[in-house]
Amino acid sequence: MTSVLSRPSERTERTASRRHYLMCRPEHFCVEYAINPWMHPGVPVDRGRALAQWEGLRQTYLGLGHRVDLLDPVPGLPDMVYAANGATVVDGVVLGARFRHRERAAEAGAHRRWFRAAGFTRVVEPEFVNEGEGDLLVVGPPRDTVVLAGTGFRTDRRAHAEAAAVLGRPVVSLELVDPCFYHLDTAIAVLDDVTIAWLPEAFAPASQAVLRERFPGALVADPADAAVLGLNAVSDGRHVVLPAPATRLAAALAERGFTPVPVEMSELLKGGGGPKCCTLEVRA
Ligand code: ARG
Repeated sequence: MTSVLSRPSERTERTASRRHYLMCRPEHFCVEYAINPWMHPGVPVDRGRALAQWEGLRQTYLGLGHRVDLLDPVPGLPDMVYAANGATVVDGVVLGARFRHRERAAEAGAHRRWFRAAGFTRVVEPEFVNEGEGDLLVVGPPRDTVVLAGTGFRTDRRAHAEAAAVLGRPVVSLELVDPCFYHLDTAIAVLDDVTIAWLPEAFAPASQAVLRERFPGALVADPADAAVLGLNAVSDGRHVVLPAPATRLAAALAERGFTPVPVEMSELLKGGGGPKCCTLEVRA
């Protein structure tokens, strides 16, 4: 017997867990090179506004009870605000990043130094290009996590095996096909241990099949929401911090029992990033 009330969406009580994030103030943020289709060096960027929006994001996390640590911004590294790209941390093991573009190369060392100074003893400098949590998304319950790993634009496919070896977790390789969704975290949002939101057309057919099988309850994003980087969202299991213009996605999340928390990120979108790009999760 099925009734409206037995639909899991209405019955699910979502539980938040306290998170630990690393962020980097956009003190030197600008768009003076273009390494993704969102970046247009001629378009002016209001750094004051970027700083205010970033501070709004930080305050949002603090208000939700999360811990936020800060990485010192480095002059000459305007994309450093996208802290998600600097590492992937699982169970206290830090897989460092190696950037595809030389403009961002020096960010990797700054991240590794931060983690070492913070007392992490296993900090690995990788051999192959991986852009941290931009392309490596950790999903699942603590003892049973897998890493969803993107490739196609930034992270080298060979880095997937390297991530599996360093992090000691199974890795699921996924191929991105649309340059607007050049990092996995622009095409998938991890909402809880078993639920994702995603944009199917951002993936090659074989990868779509893999995701459909693994996440039967996935929320499919409206392309209009993905086009404002709506999937670049950060969830604590209950609250989902997402770009304010992604209104359809926010409504769909609410219908599933999540609490959407919209944030304004228009200036940082000019560099091709949203809330998730600005947020590295530290899983100690
Ligand atoms: N301008 C940066 C780049 O192209 C944006 C990075 C966005 N970060 C992310 N996690 N998707 O590398």
